[in-house]
Amino acid sequence: MSVAPLQPLTLTIDVHLDAADLRAALARDVRSGLGAARKSLPPTWFYDEEGSKLFEEITRLPEYYPTRAERVLLERHASDVAALTRSDTLVELGAGACEKTRVLLDALADLGSLRRYVPFDVSADFLEEAATALGRQYEGLVVHAVIGDFHRHLGKIPGSGGRLIAFLGGTIGNLVPRQRRRFFSALRATMAPTDHLLLGADLVKDVGTILAAYDDSAGVTGRFNRNVLHVVNRELDADFVPDRFAHVVRWNPEQQWIEMRLRSELDQLVHVGALGLAVPFGRGEELLTEISAKFTPAGIRSELVRAGFVLDRQWGENAGDFLLTLAHPASRR
Ligand code: AVJ
Repeated sequence: MSVAPLQPLTLTIDVHLDAADLRAALARDVRSGLGAARKSLPPTWFYDEEGSKLFEEITRLPEYYPTRAERVLLERHASDVAALTRSDTLVELGAGACEKTRVLLDALADLGSLRRYVPFDVSADFLEEAATALGRQYEGLVVHAVIGDFHRHLGKIPGSGGRLIAFLGGTIGNLVPRQRRRFFSALRATMAPTDHLLLGADLVKDVGTILAAYDDSAGVTGRFNRNVLHVVNRELDADFVPDRFAHVVRWNPEQQWIEMRLRSELDQLVHVGALGLAVPFGRGEELLTEISAKFTPAGIRSELVRAGFVLDRQWGENAGDFLLTLAHPASRR
């Protein structure tokens, strides 16, 4: 067996968010989300260790097309992205286990422009290990990880100019239009003229295909959905019985997004010990846990243009499965 030589590692990790910050944010979201007339929790809280494992499992399900579709596009077009941008830094927002990174790093390394990799994530759990492994594989690569929240810490991303900021996986679909406007504008404000944004977004397609992707026959997405209740139980001393909630998936045709909900199967009272809350659920009452918006190429284009970007290219618009969009800041006058 031959083993590739390990490269010396240059690794920096900036922490803008620690476990106590995360717990405080969860407490805030639970208090407001479960206290509202229409109950909801943000999808951020799915991803503890178990939730991240379940999401990995989702990406391998036959019904869940987005991850595979995006990977095909990345493999097909990473060299185009590299040639169009000649970036020296790859920034990956929501890097997680740094899975999709290799394709882009390889393309930039082949071009000879690659110097630095900046994985950005709310959770340090997977980041350090993955960043270390990557840093050891690319000669001379500087790895500068940032632990932060992309609603608050975009300005903390190191460097200015020559950066390719990748926001992949369709995570943009978790944001409602107003949040997307704010996110794109805030991101644009941190970008230099020679930075680029590479955005992955899922496309509108026949509703059956979309619904199946979020309601798989093996029930993995249902377990993923209920996992948020385990997280609240553990972190905030709550007494949710996840089996008393059904996994519900609906297509919202006005908003063009998938809604994942947890429907209370009976009248029940749930206590959140750490917050001193008692939360009543009526039989049939639903808790909204995620929206996943689907887009059109023209819709993505107009949202980006409105936030001050110019489009370089879109890939995948004809295949209709998934869309990659490369854009850069419009020059200021
Ligand atoms: C990680 C937000 C892109 O919306 O498709 C998968 C999360 N939820 N199955 C998505 C998810 C249920 C996923 N994103």
